[in-house]
Amino acid sequence: MSMRIIGTGSALPAKQVSNEELEKLVDTSDEWIRERTGIGCRHISTEETAASLAAEACKKALERAGRQASEVELLLVATCSPEMALPCTACQVQELIGAEHAVAFDLNAACAGFLFALNTAYAYISAGIYHNALIAGTEVLSKIIDWSDRGTCILFGDGAGAVMAEQCESGGILGFVQHSDGTRGGVLACGSRNLENPYFTSQDFMPYVRMDGRAVFAFAVRQVPASIEEVLEKTGIEAGEVDLFVLHQANCRIIEGIAKRLKADPSKFPINLDRVGNMSSAAIPVLLDELNGQGRIIPGMTLVLSGFGAGLTYGACVLKW
Ligand code: UT7
Repeated sequence: MSMRIIGTGSALPAKQVSNEELEKLVDTSDEWIRERTGIGCRHISTEETAASLAAEACKKALERAGRQASEVELLLVATCSPEMALPCTACQVQELIGAEHAVAFDLNAACAGFLFALNTAYAYISAGIYHNALIAGTEVLSKIIDWSDRGTCILFGDGAGAVMAEQCESGGILGFVQHSDGTRGGVLACGSRNLENPYFTSQDFMPYVRMDGRAVFAFAVRQVPASIEEVLEKTGIEAGEVDLFVLHQANCRIIEGIAKRLKADPSKFPINLDRVGNMSSAAIPVLLDELNGQGRIIPGMTLVLSGFGAGLTYGACVLKW
């Protein structure tokens, strides 16, 4: 028993912020940002929340799949920037879309979050526990970014993407690999709430994202191709048979580096980060929805999805569309 994606959806905040606008906030330039990252613009929430964006993306995915919210059995939301600590974003989405019969919970694996949630749904569905799943990645990273830190504020954007998936006899997801390395968590980190109670108050609270960009870059260009090679070997598929590599959108140079290491055709690596920046767990499902909407993914195609991020977490998946 396997799982296939039958609908995709996405949602972006209305406000767009160009590199030129960031020049007014920090000592940076459009030229530097484009050259070093490939990013030209990103969407930033003014009133949209992680839950409202995810709900919009989920509704579109359901509509494209021709399914009703009331049919959803499992609702997973990947996010590292939820609006609320309680309830979880998935339960908020459940209420917003009316998926009253779904079991709903969140999963945080940062930028690999959507991929990890997809694999979690796949495990439930291939075990026969649930027959379908709505899986979203949603982020409002703009609230955990230090807007005076030019090393991070130019990179990230807000948005959400979702897929509706269901059980199938064959095809669909062919294989998965996932990895985590908690020993290197310090290279990309952000505090949650300060430890503050009648007995203790922590002094070294870190409320915003702190990142060693070079370390993350080096990790990504080494581990992402390795995990893609691992999943291709596991599924017996040659890199040349893959039609599209839908990768986490963090930096064009990282994607180029990965294509080079895999000796794969760079035109098979679609990019949208020039328009949306790095949206962490929302990056892969938003790109998937764009490609699907443009008719660039057709039945029978072989896709590789791969993500990496804070944790450190990374992984890859091969699927037949
Ligand atoms: O989803 C995972 C999340 N994170 C990532 O994927 C990040 C991966 N890393 C990267 O994408 C890159 O490392 C960055 C884009 C973050 C940085 O690019 P880089 O080529 O590694 O630059 P760098 O950090 O080595 O900095 C080079 C110079 C430094 O100045 P000096 O020391 O050479 O004088 C920085 O201070 O560029 C400076 N710099 C900037 N200059 C203009 C750093 N940020 C900026 C900026 N504008 N925004």
